[in-house]
Amino acid sequence: MAVKIGVLVSGRGSNLQAIIDSIEKGYIRNAEINVVISNKADAYALERAKEHGINAVFLDPSGYDNTGYDREILYVLKQHDIDLLLLAGYFRLLGNEIIEAYRYRIMNIHPSLLPAFKGLHAQKQAFEYGVKVSGCTVHFVDEGLDSGPIILQSCVPVLPGDAEETLTARILEQEHIIYPEAVRLFVEGKLKIEGRNVVLIS
Ligand code: GRF
Repeated sequence: MAVKIGVLVSGRGSNLQAIIDSIEKGYIRNAEINVVISNKADAYALERAKEHGINAVFLDPSGYDNTGYDREILYVLKQHDIDLLLLAGYFRLLGNEIIEAYRYRIMNIHPSLLPAFKGLHAQKQAFEYGVKVSGCTVHFVDEGLDSGPIILQSCVPVLPGDAEETLTARILEQEHIIYPEAVRLFVEGKLKIEGRNVVLIS
C-alpha cells in the first residue's frame, strides 16, 4: 500500500513542489500526497496542490486556540488516513497531541545546520553571525523548537560577496534535494531511530 502523505504549509510551497515532482518522476515510489493543509488562505502552495490534483484545504485558525486548531488538523489528517506528515514552510508550532499521534512520522525542513540558528529567519541569523558554511536540515519533529532527531543535512559555503538573499537561494536549492531524499528513505523503510540518532539503513 502506498504511504499517504499530508503536508502543512503557510506560503510559497517550493519544497512541496520538489516533493510532488519527485513522486511524479518516480524518484519517490509507493507514496502519494493526499492532502495539503494551509493556515493561510492565499498560500501559493494551495495552488500548486490543486494543479496536481491534490486535495488543498485552507483551515482558518481564527476562532481556535492552538490546541483546538491542531485538533482540526488532526481531524483532516485522520480523514485522509495520513501516515507521514511533512511541514513545508509551515509557520506555526505543533502541539503535543499531533506530535504524539505522529511520533517519528512528522518531518520538517529547516534552513540552517541545526542545532545552529533555530527558529525564524535562520538564514539571516547565520549570515549576520558570519558563519563560513551553512545549509539545511531535515529532522523529525518533537516537542521542542527545531530540536528533533536529524535525518539529513546539506552544507553550502558562504561566499565572499554574498548577501542574505544569495545565501538563502543557495540553501533552498539544497532543501529541494534533501527533503525529497528524506521522504524517499522514510517511504522505503530505511530510517531507524536510535535515541537522537537516525540511522540510515542501506
Ligand atoms: C524554507 O526555507 C524552509 O526551509 C523553511 O521555510 C521555507 C519554506 O519555503 N521552513 P517553501 O514554502 O517551501 O518555498
